[in-house]
Amino acid sequence: MHAFRYKDNVLCGEEVPLDRVAEEVGTPVYVYSRRTIRDHYRRLDDAFSDIPHLICYSVKANSNLAVISVLAGEGAGADIVSGGELYRALKAGVPPKKIVFAGIGKTAEEMVYALRSGILMFNVESETELLLLDRVAGELGMRADIALRVNPDVDPATHPYVATGLKEAKFGIGMGEALAVYRRAAALPHIQVVGVHQHIGSQITSVEPFREALERTGELVRSLRNMGLEIRYINIGGGFGIPYGEEEVPYPVDYARALAPVLREHGCTVILEIGRMIVGNAGVLLTRVLYRKQSGEKRFLVVDAAMNDLIRPSLYGAFHRILPVVDHGREEETVDVVGPVCESGDFLARDRVLPRSEPGDLLAVMSAGAYGFVMSSNYNSRRRAAEVMVDGEDFLVVRQRESLEDLVRGERTLT
Ligand code: LLP
Repeated sequence: MHAFRYKDNVLCGEEVPLDRVAEEVGTPVYVYSRRTIRDHYRRLDDAFSDIPHLICYSVKANSNLAVISVLAGEGAGADIVSGGELYRALKAGVPPKKIVFAGIGKTAEEMVYALRSGILMFNVESETELLLLDRVAGELGMRADIALRVNPDVDPATHPYVATGLKEAKFGIGMGEALAVYRRAAALPHIQVVGVHQHIGSQITSVEPFREALERTGELVRSLRNMGLEIRYINIGGGFGIPYGEEEVPYPVDYARALAPVLREHGCTVILEIGRMIVGNAGVLLTRVLYRKQSGEKRFLVVDAAMNDLIRPSLYGAFHRILPVVDHGREEETVDVVGPVCESGDFLARDRVLPRSEPGDLLAVMSAGAYGFVMSSNYNSRRRAAEVMVDGEDFLVVRQRESLEDLVRGERTLT
């Protein structure tokens, strides 16, 4: 359940009318609901309350400090994939002992930073990475706790760009090689094996691929224990899908019910690396209509948000609901909602039935809290949007809109 609802025909975030935010902060602007973030986190936490677990919020989904700090306040850890995300997580108050570090391209410098910060563990994705980590930890006189990311080769039935658990994926270590790499890891002097990690993809809308993957990973855990390794953590990754339109998706309790039997059998602490389910429907992107335009049969609404602000429709053909901020009850029409960027691929919606909008009207692009602002760019020298957090009847700018000066920071002209 999210907190974006109409009150007296005006779309509100919690108790704040969104037209007020747009007036005061300008557009395009991302608006997040603190209540929704908290509510989603608590539902997830409650669903797994019968099993020892740690929810590591996947910072890549939305890395605004305000968002991370709300979750840190709830007790969340963090799943990070770069030194930059580690910096953000620590700055937002996530305890280092609740941070897990994934990613196939960790640099030695990032390893040093993470070791010195005292993170919980590294999710190691290849044997070569393992050897480098052993060397780096040794040079620091430290020991690195690790899980190996294994690849259960399960089809998550999601967009190919966000499926990660198939054997031809660039991620993780194939099940066939996993035992050998674990054996190697166990023999390294500055490595301590503590767990197993899997992540099969994102926006998965059924529990079945998770159950299947976990069964395969569970078999591996059994073999590792037979080898004498103490496996204390099973990290099941992230990827719980959310409704973007009318689709039915499992609730956190459905995942917990399906996965608990396998998880209980192993008696490990379960780590969940959830991003989208916590923040996806906790955010919207507000944009203003600039022009109406007709080209042949096609009708366009040109708005002030573009693919540089929200790339998901252009990159994945993703569907985001679009709602008028003020519902005037106007007749419906079919339009393409497009941004000002100089690319035909710059659209937020195609052939969408919407109540007629006029220049100056505000639209809300829904479900934009995950992989929205974080994937934005300065393409066409567009300043990145502001971000706002609503909290009851109040709202706060949690990231200023970029200035023209910000756009050229660090650059120089040549004479
Ligand atoms: N753990 C690992 C190792 C991951 O790679 C990811 C996401 C997650 C956890 C969190 O997954 P989530 O719970 O948010 O599904 N930009 C794409 C999504 C890319 C996901 C990348 N990895 C999109 O906009 O749909």
